[in-house]
Amino acid sequence: MSPSNNTLTVDDRITRLVPYHPGKPISEVRRELGLTEIVKLASNENPLGPSPKAIDAIIAAAASVHVYPDGACHDLRTSIAARLDISPDSLVFGNGSDEIIHLLGLTYLCAGDEVVVAHPTFSRYESAAVLAGAHTLRVPLRDWAFDIEAMVASITDRTRLVFLSNPNNPTGGYASTDGVNRLINSLPDRCILCIDEAYYEYAARPDYPQAIEYVRQNRNVIILRTFSKIYGLAGLRIGYGIAKRQIIGHIEQVREPFNTNALAQTAAVAALDDSAHLEASRSLVLEQRPMLARRLSEMDMTVYPSEGNFLWVNTHRDSQWIFDGLLRCGVIIRTGDAFDAPGYLRITIGTAQQNEKLLSALSEVLSKP
Ligand SMILES: Cc1ncc(COP(=O)(O)O)c(C=O)c1O
Repeated sequence: MSPSNNTLTVDDRITRLVPYHPGKPISEVRRELGLTEIVKLASNENPLGPSPKAIDAIIAAAASVHVYPDGACHDLRTSIAARLDISPDSLVFGNGSDEIIHLLGLTYLCAGDEVVVAHPTFSRYESAAVLAGAHTLRVPLRDWAFDIEAMVASITDRTRLVFLSNPNNPTGGYASTDGVNRLINSLPDRCILCIDEAYYEYAARPDYPQAIEYVRQNRNVIILRTFSKIYGLAGLRIGYGIAKRQIIGHIEQVREPFNTNALAQTAAVAALDDSAHLEASRSLVLEQRPMLARRLSEMDMTVYPSEGNFLWVNTHRDSQWIFDGLLRCGVIIRTGDAFDAPGYLRITIGTAQQNEKLLSALSEVLSKP
């Protein structure tokens, strides 16, 4: 039989997976539009870049990349455990927190199980469910805020995972301590709440929960954190989960032995040690966030309260047209289309200079009919 007569098929779980559409890379815009000066405010990265200490650590470690990385992430594990005052075996590391979401699906989900997510939210939660043949219950946000009561109501005996992006990507809204308490207290025994804290460091409200307490109380919860956002190491891919030993043990059964690379581990340790860079990165967002929100509102847009390093904006216009116009000016943002919200934009908060470039490009685009 010739190879062309071979019919390769894949399970429905695979054909149903929706590919992730990341923010447009700078190199692509450079290629397509021939622009040299490009500002990317599309993927919630740190506009200040990585810590100089992390760069030095990467350079120092480069000559040893012929050796496999430490699969147990010993140094990073010890450093995080000491900072969070938790046991080192309450941690699992991933090739980005993306991988931990994927591992959660592989570890806990079977065909017919249910997963509860808000909608819109970070799309990888649903992908983990689809891959396992599990069913996702999307609970719509209300006025772009979590509807905790509706999430509680959608939990059934078949629910195995509930995902909460706190603060939520793409809206920047957050669930308060009371809200998360309500959710966690309604979980059936065989269900885990995954609290994804990718933007934890930017959340400034006093009633933003300290979810680590749930881990200390031995609850069925896993917290996700990442080095991709405030720590400026998105290109190296490293994130982690914090949970009770039993949950970490289950995930460790599935994790690939060398899933996080040596440069990422060493850079993450150095980044944790650079509190000045962390503080500068946080202060930048806390200063620029209200400024940018105000200036966008002055352009007749509705800006929603955000605890992240990005803003969710109703343009009251054609957001694809705005996106295309900004791209021609060398500014990359995200439209709400990927989140089923045409007319909306998600804009990462940049440096003061980048935000000014965005605002002047925006007024240029809006001034044209
Ligand atoms: C809410 C949320 N969780 C997880 C991630 C993935 O982060 P990482 O780069 O650690 O895989 C992102 C990235 O945008 C995110 O917004």
